[in-house]
Amino acid sequence: MISIRSVSESSDALLEKLAALLIDSVGNGASVGFLAPVAPETARRYWSEVFSALGPGLVLWVAEADGEIVGSVQLSRCRKENGLHRAEVQKLLVRSDQRRKGIASLLMNELETFARADGKILLVLDTETGSGAERLYQGLGFTRLGDIPNYALTSDGQLCSTTYYFKHI
Ligand SMILES: CC(C)(COP(=O)(O)OP(=O)(O)OC[C@H]1O[C@@H](n2cnc3c(N)ncnc32)[C@H](O)[C@@H]1OP(=O)(O)O)[C@@H](O)C(=O)NCCC(=O)NCCS
Repeated sequence: MISIRSVSESSDALLEKLAALLIDSVGNGASVGFLAPVAPETARRYWSEVFSALGPGLVLWVAEADGEIVGSVQLSRCRKENGLHRAEVQKLLVRSDQRRKGIASLLMNELETFARADGKILLVLDTETGSGAERLYQGLGFTRLGDIPNYALTSDGQLCSTTYYFKHI
């Protein structure tokens, strides 16, 4: 049984679980800003920065199963005066042994429901070209905009292209 909840308060236990999720995800191909292997202190520092940023600008959801964190996603709400209607989907992660069970779809549905209720009309995101995430986003109704070649490195250090998507909600 998977449950999805938004996170409003940090705790050491949650930080450790999210650090483990990030280490596992990057170790299994996630191109989310880190190179594999992610050091535990790097992962902890990252999540503690996320916790500090939670609030009007950033919302975090986690997926839990049997007390374990099996996935997460973030929504970065644009704070510019002329962009309050849009938000960016960031760092969608599902633990490698829990993939293809619909967890990312549940997280994205929750995020989208929240964004709509929050008055957002546009979601944007980018992801590694050719990754499984592309299929996921297309299945969720996102429109593929185009690629920027050599934008980032894969988790194992190879230059790769990034693809941009948007969805009106
Ligand atoms: C991409 C990712 C989030 C998908 O999570 P997930 O929980 O396995 O996704 P879901 O089970 O909800 O998948 C729903 C649908 O998306 C598509 N999909 C998901 N992963 C896919 C993959 N690796 N290859 C092809 N299609 C995929 C399928 O159509 C799938 O439906 P199906 O399983 O019935 O065929 C997960 O693989 C992951 O964490 N990858 C590493 C991190 C990453 O790339 N994140 C995106 C950063 S922008």
